Amino acid sequence: MKIFIDSANVKEIEKWMNTGIVDGVTTNPSIMLKDGLYNIEDGVKTLAKLLNPLPVSAEVTTNDPKEMLEQGKWLASLAKNVVVKIPVQNEFGVPTYGVINQLEKSGIKVNATAILSIGQMMLAAKADATFVSIFAGRIADEGGNATEIISEAVEWLERWKYKSELVIGSIRSVGDVISAALAGAHIVTIPPQFLGKMADHKFTRETVKQFMTDAQSTMKLMGKSKA
Ligand code: E4P
Repeated sequence: MKIFIDSANVKEIEKWMNTGIVDGVTTNPSIMLKDGLYNIEDGVKTLAKLLNPLPVSAEVTTNDPKEMLEQGKWLASLAKNVVVKIPVQNEFGVPTYGVINQLEKSGIKVNATAILSIGQMMLAAKADATFVSIFAGRIADEGGNATEIISEAVEWLERWKYKSELVIGSIRSVGDVISAALAGAHIVTIPPQFLGKMADHKFTRETVKQFMTDAQSTMKLMGKSKA
């Protein structure tokens, strides 16, 4: 399973780079705003350089499918490892599978995003998206069973051998990460605060503390026995 960081916070991302656990980064306009990357061009270039050659997903910011196509090409031109995020429909309900397919056909990798149902995921895979992003937290917010949808989605993608990798986003807790991972998600994109929590366990700290204390006692006894 791959882990992406769902963030545009350069310091937080830097913290996790070179640990061997990061396989990419995802952003969206809300994340860019929250993390203060107001200049999209500079922000995407900075993230892409930091992650190179790992993928960085950057999202289009228009409802117009023609403009999505243009923005997608522009975002992809900023760096080789940029993946263009296209929501599977705009805010007025217009589907965007044609945009996804045209970008993929022109050699640009697409992350089909804001997917809230297995049907949307199937259409995004059919449109040839490199990544298909299901928003687990938002499904659960509406009373849906995200875990069931994730395992069905993975089974379907693998049965038909689609190239699309399933990304699970909209993570609200470490429990969501574990559920998505055990349901078979190819990738979970995790906000940095949950990565920190996932890495930590107070009993691990206590255990290591005990080892350190006993190691010091051993050193003292060794010193004495030599004397
Ligand atoms: C994933 O790619 C998205 O950026 C993100 O996970 C959306 O999460 P949210 O529901 O917290 O906005």
